[in-house]
Amino acid sequence: MKPSTTLVSAGRNPRRHAGAVNVPAFRASTITAPDLAAWEASRTRRFEKDAVVYGRFGTPASQALEEAVAAIEGADRAVSVSSGMAACASAILSLVKAGDHVLLPDNVYQPVRAFANGFLAPFGVEATFYDPLVGAGIAALMKPNTRLLYLEAPGSQTMEMPDIPALVAEAKARAIRTAMDNTWGTPLLFRPLDHGVDLSINAATKYLVGHSDAMLGTIAMREELFERVKTVATAHLGICAGSEEIYLGLRGMRTMAVRLEKQGKSAFAVARWFQTRPEVERVLYPALPEDPGHAVWKRDFKGASGLFSVVFKPMDKAALARFVDGLEHFGIGASFGGYESLVLPFEPSHYRTVTTWTSKGPCLRFHIGLEDVDDLLEDLERGFARMRAAA
Ligand SMILES: Cc1ncc(COP(=O)(O)O)c(C=O)c1O
Repeated sequence: MKPSTTLVSAGRNPRRHAGAVNVPAFRASTITAPDLAAWEASRTRRFEKDAVVYGRFGTPASQALEEAVAAIEGADRAVSVSSGMAACASAILSLVKAGDHVLLPDNVYQPVRAFANGFLAPFGVEATFYDPLVGAGIAALMKPNTRLLYLEAPGSQTMEMPDIPALVAEAKARAIRTAMDNTWGTPLLFRPLDHGVDLSINAATKYLVGHSDAMLGTIAMREELFERVKTVATAHLGICAGSEEIYLGLRGMRTMAVRLEKQGKSAFAVARWFQTRPEVERVLYPALPEDPGHAVWKRDFKGASGLFSVVFKPMDKAALARFVDGLEHFGIGASFGGYESLVLPFEPSHYRTVTTWTSKGPCLRFHIGLEDVDDLLEDLERGFARMRAAA
């Protein structure tokens, strides 16, 4: 089955819900048993795919979502959690304990860096940040107690594309587990498990939900890791996704393929256009042939999503504000993956620690939504005109 068909059909069985096309929201905490024997039996079944024993452990709706996510990820099982960050933290905590060492890319999603420094470190887990472009050189950073190699591709904001197969091969050679934040690509453009990664993390808040109206995260894996991840996320940390969010995730994913295809195409057109602008120093987007990560991206990914960054030539803050503030179709906000376009300033030099990333001018991250490209380009053109007008 092709991925777009899987997205439409996985986890969905209208006959189970009086013929309704969508899996209805399922609100439950207490699940009552018909008799004592059934109650006792349910205790031992709680990791089974269709076991409904208590709301936090899963409902028919969260199981439908997890079944669908596992199907598009090429995984055996998935765990749904309350946000993308909950997925990142639960995945990491499932694979490490006190005394362990983890490797994280220097361009990792910033809250994961903060989690490593502010949460893992006090619990005795040491983190080393690595150059995302280190490739097989990662071996030199691996210690006898390294238990986890964490990946993100492309990395947040600066969009460097790591050589995933090279990194995973070095981890595998030493029996080190791997987890990858695959939010940018979604399983439609890259399936981490197909490339030997142990845990595939998706901030489903972004493209899976697709409408900027729900927080949701997923972790996909082979059967052997399921019980561990589910125990850490759901039993120990008490993390589960809300019923409304599960409903919105399931509904959103049905259209993810068409959204992502259009957003990737539009983003490429807008990124190309930025490359022609005199105000722009560099566009950071692996789909562009000039991008240093292009060859690796082309080898490993099936396409590009709608998120890229732009490094501008030096300009004062007021000029940047004139450009950004007047944009009609670009909301100023964090996150991405919704149907609407966004813009966000960032300063990599503020948080990177092992690789120097300098730019003389300001940086903006753009997310391209489902608006018509001509309208977006006109909007950006007007922004540059305003920037110049007051100069
Ligand atoms: C790459 C990446 N991973 C994880 C997250 C966290 O997702 P959430 O906001 O759903 O917690 C984000 C959010 O921006 C992200 O960009």
